[in-house]
Amino acid sequence: MNTVLQAVQIQRLEESSLERIITLLEQCDMYTSSVTFESSSYWIAQLDGLDVGCVGLEQGFQASLLRSVAVLPRFRSSGVARTLTLFALEQARSGGDQADYLFTSDMGPFWTRFGFIEVPLETLVQALPDVPQVQSALNQRWLEESRAWLKSLEPQEV
Ligand SMILES: CC(C)(COP(=O)(O)OP(=O)(O)OC[C@H]1O[C@@H](n2cnc3c(N)ncnc32)[C@H](O)[C@@H]1OP(=O)(O)O)[C@@H](O)C(=O)NCCC(=O)NCCS
Repeated sequence: MNTVLQAVQIQRLEESSLERIITLLEQCDMYTSSVTFESSSYWIAQLDGLDVGCVGLEQGFQASLLRSVAVLPRFRSSGVARTLTLFALEQARSGGDQADYLFTSDMGPFWTRFGFIEVPLETLVQALPDVPQVQSALNQRWLEESRAWLKSLEPQEV
């Protein structure tokens, strides 16, 4: 394991810390308009007390939407996003989710590394009709500009 990953700590954020997620996402040129703690959880990766990356999960029924995976530019290529992604997927799986979805228009090659496959947009919308990012896509009319991805989550072996 590299030294960055040995030092990274993942911290679950309270609703009062929304600003920390917004700040990180803005530094990574990511959208922030639908970030909310409603039916959602967010985690931050910290390195020596500095917020360097984040990930969010929007909760549906036996499925969730992975979102806002971002790492500050100077901390990239060290496995921080991989650590955050695997952590969030495990949170989803251990919470009983059978599938995780996400939107991305151009980062498919990144997500295939984690076993995501592309599915029709309608599949995601039907699976998670009420989560904030789907509502944002429908209300702000960006759904057709994005693409939907799915990863099935295996139940934990006993
Ligand atoms: C994409 C992003 C999160 C990657 O963060 P990172 O910490 O550098 O990623 P990691 O070091 O954990 O890399 C994990 C794997 O993804 C690969 N990867 C990293 N960036 C990639 C990219 N842009 N495209 C394809 N693969 C990528 C790495 O090579 C690595 O593969 P490996 O495990 O087989 O070696 C980061 O570049 C970022 O914050 N970008 C802006 C926000 C963004 O686009 N987020 C994704 C939203 S869909």
